[in-house]
Amino acid sequence: MKTKLTIFVLMLLALSSCSKSFKQIDVKTLKDNPVSLFADDWMVVTAGTSTDYNLMTISWGALGNLWGYPTATIYVRDSRNTFTYMNRERYFTLCAFGEECRDKLKVIGSKSGRDIDKVKATGLTPLYTDLGNVYYKEARLVLECEKVYFDDFAPNNFLDPAVVKIYNNEPSLHRVFVGKILNVWVK
Ligand SMILES: Cc1cc2nc3c(=O)[nH]c(=O)nc-3n(C[C@H](O)[C@H](O)[C@H](O)COP(=O)(O)O)c2cc1C
Repeated sequence: MKTKLTIFVLMLLALSSCSKSFKQIDVKTLKDNPVSLFADDWMVVTAGTSTDYNLMTISWGALGNLWGYPTATIYVRDSRNTFTYMNRERYFTLCAFGEECRDKLKVIGSKSGRDIDKVKATGLTPLYTDLGNVYYKEARLVLECEKVYFDDFAPNNFLDPAVVKIYNNEPSLHRVFVGKILNVWVK
């Protein structure tokens, strides 16, 4: 009985978080801790158009200030399907979700868009910004970014042996993408 009640309350919470509408905020008023946002909550990066896009979970990233504007920096391995989209597209979005979506983020971070339709598999609801970029109704935070820089990690420049080990275990390298943060929406 207690389990049924807990499930019911969790479903209600999930539904209420989905039904809230987004409001636009100034990035400087963002309440989230930028380290926890990536390391603990995880984010979903999406690049592409309404008819052809790809999404994946990321936990490496940074929010900051560069060249006079707010930026989001993310790291995408060249083996990911998302890599193709990140290179091709001018924009990308970063979405954060509540704990109730953790299982969806696990699917999005373990399956490839080459093999399955991850939006269908997770039941996420795609929405589109005025610029045509994809985000999700179930998100609690959305950053819309314009790609302004990319570069590949140079293996000779790794100074931490623990990092060298990461790339020895999985040789495909990360490309760094810096996005200018254009819009921020929260619920
Ligand atoms: C918690 C978590 C964090 C991840 N962080 C990253 C990351 O920062 N960069 C990256 O390239 N892959 C990361 N991944 C792996 C990709 O999400 C995963 O390989 C995904 O299936 C790629 O999908 P795609 O082939 O459709 O692009 C992460 C996975 C998980 C579960």
